[in-house]
Amino acid sequence: MKKVALLVAAALIAPSAAFAHQAGDILVRGGAVTVSPNSSGDNVGSGHLEPNSNTQLGLTLSYMITDNWGVELLAATPFSHSVSTQGFGEVAKIKHLPPTLMGQYYFGNAQSKVRPYVGAGVNYTFFFDEEGRGALDGDDVSLDDSWGLAAQAGLDMKVTDNLFVNGSIWYMDIDTEVTSKRLGKTYDTSIDPIGLMVGLGYRF
Ligand code: NI
Repeated sequence: MKKVALLVAAALIAPSAAFAHQAGDILVRGGAVTVSPNSSGDNVGSGHLEPNSNTQLGLTLSYMITDNWGVELLAATPFSHSVSTQGFGEVAKIKHLPPTLMGQYYFGNAQSKVRPYVGAGVNYTFFFDEEGRGALDGDDVSLDDSWGLAAQAGLDMKVTDNLFVNGSIWYMDIDTEVTSKRLGKTYDTSIDPIGLMVGLGYRF
């Protein structure tokens, strides 16, 4: 009888099934990502090129190397931006994909119901389907690929043992050269966006 009581007591004080983020876990997060550029660079007309904000479906895949360190890959459906300048209004439409690889540190431990995290890594952005618009209608516009640093901060909150809610904020250093065949010029442009992602995650 004593033995049974001890077992029951042990079961009660033992941590219940660990929430998440233990060595070996795979975390998949999906949600809406809004990319908001903070653009600067060479003037076209009387202002630099300014892509507008765009929201797409984001998907991230994390692997936990230890209970606190992970690596994450960010993928998304292609972002589509209208690009304008102060002088000419809309001058182009562009699409891009910004795959990003992050090393991450998760605060707390495997029993924590909330796991804030920070990350740093590398972003590669490639542009496609560039189209001249307005003053550059019909122009052959192209944007160079970009390699740059990226940083993030995020939060996972337990819903069930495997499901969690996620929010994260990203910064990506994206610099490109915009070439207009008609103008015969290249314009250095920094896009350097903030990305905001809100969604759900699942732990495998
Ligand atoms: Ni930059």
